[in-house]
Amino acid sequence: MPAVYAAAMTDATDARLAAQYEAYPYPRRDPRDETKRLIVGSPGHLREIDYWVFGARRPAAQPLHALIAGGGTGDATIMLAQQMAREGRAGSVTWLDRSAAARKVAQARAEARGLDNIVWQQRSLLELPGSGLGPFDYVDCCGVLHHLPDPAEGLRALLSVLAPGGGLGLMVYAPHGRTGVYMLQDALRLLASADEPPAARLDVAKRVMRHLPDTAWLRRNGFLDDHVNGGDAGLYDLLLNPRDRAFTVHELHALLAAEGLTVTCWVEPARYDPIPLLPDPRLRTRIEALHPTARAALAEALAGNVSAHIVYCVRQHTATGPADPTAADAAPVLRELSGAELANGIAPDGTITFVFDGLRQPVALPPLAPAILRLVDGRRTVGEIAATLAGRGTPADAFARAWAATFAALERLNRLLLAAPSHQR
Ligand SMILES: C[S@@+](CC[C@H](N)C(=O)[O-])C[C@H]1O[C@@H](n2cnc3c(N)ncnc32)[C@H](O)[C@@H]1O
Repeated sequence: MPAVYAAAMTDATDARLAAQYEAYPYPRRDPRDETKRLIVGSPGHLREIDYWVFGARRPAAQPLHALIAGGGTGDATIMLAQQMAREGRAGSVTWLDRSAAARKVAQARAEARGLDNIVWQQRSLLELPGSGLGPFDYVDCCGVLHHLPDPAEGLRALLSVLAPGGGLGLMVYAPHGRTGVYMLQDALRLLASADEPPAARLDVAKRVMRHLPDTAWLRRNGFLDDHVNGGDAGLYDLLLNPRDRAFTVHELHALLAAEGLTVTCWVEPARYDPIPLLPDPRLRTRIEALHPTARAALAEALAGNVSAHIVYCVRQHTATGPADPTAADAAPVLRELSGAELANGIAPDGTITFVFDGLRQPVALPPLAPAILRLVDGRRTVGEIAATLAGRGTPADAFARAWAATFAALERLNRLLLAAPSHQR
C-alpha cells in the first residue's frame, strides 16, 4: 500500500476515534456521584506511585508533578489529585486529553470535590514533544496507547516529558481475557460501516447484543462487563472502537524495552507468577529456568483471564528497586484496606484468599501477621512495630521472620507497600 494512502487511512481512523470520545466520553461518569465515593484503581494510585515508581525513597514532602495522558472523564486524575490533597502532598496533576466532552465531565467531578491541584490540557498527547509541558515525575496513560496509530510513537511522546528519575504507569489491553471481543468487533464491522455516525453504529450494536448466540465467546467471557454495565460509552468502547489492539506480556515487554524502559511491577505481581498455578515439583525447575518476562507470559497464557496489563515502569538506567522492607525506618502502608480489615480476612488456618478475575489465590501468612497488620498505618515504622510487639512479649527474631514473610506475601498482591519517607519519622 502506498505510504501516503496508508497515512490517510490512519488519520481517518484516528479522526473516528476522536469523534467516538466526543460522542461517548469514557468512562461514563456522573459528577454527582463524587459526594458518594472515590473511584480508586491502578495505575495512578498515590501509594503505588510512591512504592512501585520511586521505591519508597522519594520524600513525601517533595512536590509531585503528574501527567494523566488520555485522562478521559477523570478517574485517575480525580483519584490522584484527591489522594494528594488528602495527604497534604504538594504538586499538581495535569489532565490531558483531546476530548472536550471528557474534559467537561472530569472538570465537573473536580469541582464537586473542590480540588484545586489539577491543570487542564485539552490536546493530543502526540503533541507533547516540544510542547513546553513538564517535566513530570509521573506519567500515567491508562487505556490509550492501544488506540493510537503507533503506540511506540505515543510512548516516546510520553517519555519526552518524563523527568529524570521519574516513571510511568500504563494500562494496555491483553488478548486472552478479551476473548470474544475481536470476533464481535469483526461482526459489527460487517453490519455498521465505520463511516456511519456513532449513534447509528451504537444502535446496530445494541440490536446485535439482544440476539447474541449463546455460543458467542463474549457471552462466555466473565472478565468483561463494560458492554453490560458501562452504558453507551462502555458498549461503544468495547465493541465499536475504530482501533484497538491487545498486547501479550511479550509484546508489551518488547514495546517498553525498545524505549529503554523496565517494568517495576506487573499489577498484581502474583497474577504473573506461574508457580502457584503449576504446583508440580518437576515443572518448578523448568519454570525457574525461565526469564522473568517468560514466567509472566507463562502465567498469562495459563490463567487466560488477563484482559488488561497494568505496569509501572522506569528507565532502565535509573532503576534502583524498592527500599528494604526490613529496615527499621521503613514505614509499611496498606494500599486500601486498613490493617484491621485485612487481619479480619485471615482464616483460622492463617490463609487469606484473594480472587483475581475468577482465579482464587490463597496466601499463607504467619501466625503473627494479624497482630502486625493491625499496627500498620503508613506512619509507624518497622522498628516501632517491632518495639510494640516486643512489649507484648514477641522476641525480635520471631518478629523479623514474621514481618519478612508477611511483607513478601502481601507485596506481591499489591496490598502491602512501603510509604514515601516523611520528615515526621
Ligand atoms: C478508553 S479512554 C481511557 C480514559 C481514561 N484513561 C480511563 O482509563 O478511564 C481513551 C481516552 O484517550 C483519549 N485519546 C485518544 N487518543 C488520544 C490522543 N492522541 N491524545 C490525547 N488523548 C487521546 C480519548 O479521548 C479518551 O478519552
